[in-house]
Amino acid sequence: MSQLFTPFTLRGLTLDNRIVVPPLCQYSSDDGVASDWHAQHLPALAISGAGLVVVEMTDVEPIGRITPWCAGLWNDAQEAAMKRVLVACRKYGAAKIGIQIAHAGRKASCDTPWRGNKFLTEEKGGWQTIAPSAIPFGENYGTPRAMVRADFERVLAAFVDATRRAARAGFDSCEMHGAHGYLLSSFFSPLSNRREDEYGGPIENRMRFPLQVFRAMREVWPAEKPLGVRLSCVDWVDGGTTIEDTIVFAKALKEAGCDFVCCSSGGVVSMVPPLIRAGYQVKFAERIRREVGIPTRGRRHDFHRRPSRRNRHRGAGGYGGGRTRLYR
Ligand SMILES: Cc1cc2nc3c(=O)[nH]c(=O)nc-3n(C[C@H](O)[C@H](O)[C@H](O)COP(=O)(O)O)c2cc1C
Repeated sequence: MSQLFTPFTLRGLTLDNRIVVPPLCQYSSDDGVASDWHAQHLPALAISGAGLVVVEMTDVEPIGRITPWCAGLWNDAQEAAMKRVLVACRKYGAAKIGIQIAHAGRKASCDTPWRGNKFLTEEKGGWQTIAPSAIPFGENYGTPRAMVRADFERVLAAFVDATRRAARAGFDSCEMHGAHGYLLSSFFSPLSNRREDEYGGPIENRMRFPLQVFRAMREVWPAEKPLGVRLSCVDWVDGGTTIEDTIVFAKALKEAGCDFVCCSSGGVVSMVPPLIRAGYQVKFAERIRREVGIPTRGRRHDFHRRPSRRNRHRGAGGYGGGRTRLYR
């Protein structure tokens, strides 16, 4: 039998197989609260046969959402709605359910993909974004405010609060979003982090805030459940993050109690990676697994189901949404 269909254990969690449905933003929440859309979308994935389904990037504070319709986990209504969806997933499906906890940083305050992803000004319902440095993500984005001490304290506390809520709601696994140019990833990349204090400059400084967040999450996430990260292993741009940098980061994360690294890439600056095709992240997953000695995940296959026009931006199939697999 293919190894893909063999069980996989991380701490106290055993998955039936190594197929993982990655986190896929749905842009369908109401004030961050999971909606009827989630109540059919996630149970449908839970019965898919995958070993693990990871719930979309779920944000820790209102200004941490990519769009005003992204999922959040900073209040009781959001926690209760997630719990209801989890109960439905378990009633009908066998997959274990994980969650990705995130902050969109300078890539927040945008419209939905089906309305063109445009940056939303405050007049149009958007907000002032935050980032390590006041450098916009792209030409049509707003300029983020460089984070000050109060932002560090608030964001760290918000990650801890969301992680506690995810634990209470009963998620089986949790991952910190450290990829795609969102807040924590923008600290790690020298392209988006130009700070001159202890959070910028050499790699030890650029990984300081993501590591502080990870350690704080590990403290409140149950010891018997896995906690991992998703990383952009390379920026695909000269002067940006390299796989060697990511290996240093992954070693530090492992020491902090990280159980797996999901290997993605790009997203820190607005350009398309040169060679997107099935399996293009696998070499990163293999190298990190070998050199760091940590289980990794990487996208192996694409969905081939053709999505309806309306749902193609939700990763319902055909549009980038890939299955990932676990390696040990
Ligand atoms: C509609 C859609 C929503 C996505 N939402 C998320 C998300 O919430 N978190 C995340 O880490 N990646 C997200 N992604 C990226 C996918 O999880 C996955 O990384 C992507 O399909 C490509 O795989 P790759 O990382 O191997 O390139 C999304 C992709 C799509 C198409």
